Amino acid sequence: MLQPFVKLITLIVALLGLATALVGVIGFVVFISYSGIQLPSLTDEQKLNPQTIAEIPVVKALADSAGMWKSPDWNSVDAEPNAMEIKYGKELIANTSEYLGPNGKVKAISNGMNCQNCHLQAGTAPLGNNYGAVAATYPKMRARSGTEEDIQKRINDCFERSLNGQSLERDSKEMVAMVAYITWVGKDVPKGEIPKGSGLYEVPVLDRAADPSKGKLVYENQCQSCHAADGQGMGRPDGKGYTYPPLWGKNSYNHGAGLYRLSRFAGYAIANMPLGASFQNPILSDEEAWDVAAYVNSMDRPKKDLSQDWPDISKKPVDHPFGPFSDQFTEAQHKFGPFKPIQEAKAKSN
Ligand code: HEC
Ligand code: HEC
Repeated sequence: MLQPFVKLITLIVALLGLATALVGVIGFVVFISYSGIQLPSLTDEQKLNPQTIAEIPVVKALADSAGMWKSPDWNSVDAEPNAMEIKYGKELIANTSEYLGPNGKVKAISNGMNCQNCHLQAGTAPLGNNYGAVAATYPKMRARSGTEEDIQKRINDCFERSLNGQSLERDSKEMVAMVAYITWVGKDVPKGEIPKGSGLYEVPVLDRAADPSKGKLVYENQCQSCHAADGQGMGRPDGKGYTYPPLWGKNSYNHGAGLYRLSRFAGYAIANMPLGASFQNPILSDEEAWDVAAYVNSMDRPKKDLSQDWPDISKKPVDHPFGPFSDQFTEAQHKFGPFKPIQEAKAKSN
């Protein structure tokens, strides 16, 4: 008879207790916020810890775009005394194959790729392997050749390696035009300066070796739809260059090219691939970028005589995969990592 009544009393007491507790908590929060006491706050690192919020993929820009290098306004090019040269240079960089590819109308000296396939938007895209720093930093000493290189020599490096072809005469109309364009692109950068956002993104090294078998899965899920299962990409219907350029095989860059180094490939891929990704909206994680680099650069590609490269072997970058080395690490570790121990050994010997 009394039981329902007792239940009701218990409920009321419980509710009152809850209300008191709430008032207490609110009071405490108000007190803390007015008293100026600093509670420990989560660092950005902790907030983004993937273990705590694994369900929500966090797209984090690779870099802040503030203060990044921008190419000069293309509409202003007509004001230049050598506007014609600059325009022809841009055309050659965007459509290299049409002029200098296997059926090139000027000369057949390269593999059918365009400079722009790797130097996106004709070398103007932020962290898209752009030419922002070139005019300001060349000529410069380069350890790969052990010589001072000017822009002409550096362009020919890419012809012989990235385009697996032959060099262009230094005084040819085409070379003069490409140098004029690249110089114009970087004209506002003070001499000696490497502007923010130029070149490629440096992906932080992993604690483990990059793994081609994991990279194969990344490739199948994120790259294969365009670059094809056999890595050969897709030629343009008109035969001039590629809709999707090849990533390995006889038409790809050779093993002396910059992209053959895992750090260069990973840096290009994370900020630009799959097509539509950018440094502001990357799609690959650091690990995926290193692993897919390991996979692609484990496939067959053209070879080049590299015997004259790196005359001072101690200057080889940690991810240059061919010995002899000035340290004790194997070729496999120099190719796939882990790179931290190599970096540390290098720092100690310097
Ligand atoms: C397969 C990809 C690829 C192609 C195609 C390619 N390059 Fe490159 N290029 C690279 C990479 C990778 C680097 C080195 C970037 C780095 O180490 O930061 C580079 C570097 C350069 C540099 C020096 C940039 C600097 O800041 O020091 C110039 C200049 C250049 N390339 C011009 C060209 C020209 C001109 C063409 C076409 C004839 C071309 N490249 C084609 C991948 C390519
Ligand atoms: C939607 C199509 C598409 C997808 C998916 C895609 N790419 Fe590309 N990729 C392109 C195109 C197009 C270019 C050339 C860009 C240009 O010329 O402006 C390119 C260029 C490249 C290049 C430089 C040129 C070369 O052939 O060496 C590399 C390296 C590359 N992609 C790697 C990747 C990787 C790694 C993935 C997967 C993570 C990927 N791509 C996914 C379309 C794609």
